[in-house]
Amino acid sequence: MAKPIDPAQLLPLLALLSNGEWANGTVLAQELKLSRAAISKQVQHLSSFGIATESHSSRGYRLCEALTLLSKTDIASLLEHDRSRQCEVSVLPQTESTNSYLLSLSQDKDPQIVTAEYQEAGRGRRGRQWQSPLAQHIYLSLSWTFENWPAQLSTVSLLAGVICCERLNARFGIETKLKWPNDLYINGKKLGGILTECRGEPHGSCRVIIGIGINVTHSEKLSDQPWISVADCIDTNALPIDRNQLIAELSITVFDALHQFSVSGFAPLLARFNALDLTRDQQVNVHADNSYSGIARGIDENGALRVETDAGIQLVHAADVSVRLGTD
Ligand code: BTN
Repeated sequence: MAKPIDPAQLLPLLALLSNGEWANGTVLAQELKLSRAAISKQVQHLSSFGIATESHSSRGYRLCEALTLLSKTDIASLLEHDRSRQCEVSVLPQTESTNSYLLSLSQDKDPQIVTAEYQEAGRGRRGRQWQSPLAQHIYLSLSWTFENWPAQLSTVSLLAGVICCERLNARFGIETKLKWPNDLYINGKKLGGILTECRGEPHGSCRVIIGIGINVTHSEKLSDQPWISVADCIDTNALPIDRNQLIAELSITVFDALHQFSVSGFAPLLARFNALDLTRDQQVNVHADNSYSGIARGIDENGALRVETDAGIQLVHAADVSVRLGTD
């Protein structure tokens, strides 16, 4: 049986092929100090990790689509450029989950960001898995410590959703919407999601970890749900997408918004949430212990979804339910 390979082992080869140009097998073998047979095996492994490649008898190998690998230097220098916000940056070849990794780091160094090329066990909301293929998408976790437990803590994940939508829309000229509480959607398909986790004591400091997953590159099937990537929505001339730039921009804007939130709470973001709200005035099905349907009527000041039913307005809290649009 073939020995399993860690996806991170493929990154040196991927770096040499990342520009999408043909690369000769012998040259690759010399550069990586491997045999030609080993290069050929690694190229096969790339395909098994969802990265499409082409082989040609005389030209060698190339990626079907160029990509930009993560670079700590690039991310850190873009963040440093924004002198208002210093933060620790970790870029990992692979990890179980960037949220779990960041949770294991001391909060003394917050704000921090962790991003990875591959997650072995990426986590989604409500115990779901988050498919995290190698080097194609964004898996980003940010940590922030509030000195005191914020009154509207449950709105932090909505805040992250608003900022991600706005940043993606401004950068790529696309129309990402938010499906409450914080799923990023385009044309009825999922573009990304956010998993927020909190640690602390009600009368002490409060640490939040905001985990952001965004589908960036064209890729093979990610989930049984309809999904889409940024690359599917933009002109091919704009490819490959620079994930380092996007990670730096998302980090700067999320940290700025968290700083603002610690001063003024969620109220200044409410109108921005409303402008992106995909569920507003739509029929929704609420799946909880008691499932029911109604019409979504925006959110209250704590970020709970207001659902109008025959029995009046029901408040839906993100922790324990899933909300599906009537069309899902
Ligand atoms: C969802 O829509 O269910 C939320 C998905 C959140 C995925 C991100 S990827 C980075 C971070 N690390 C994880 O394990 N999950 C989040």
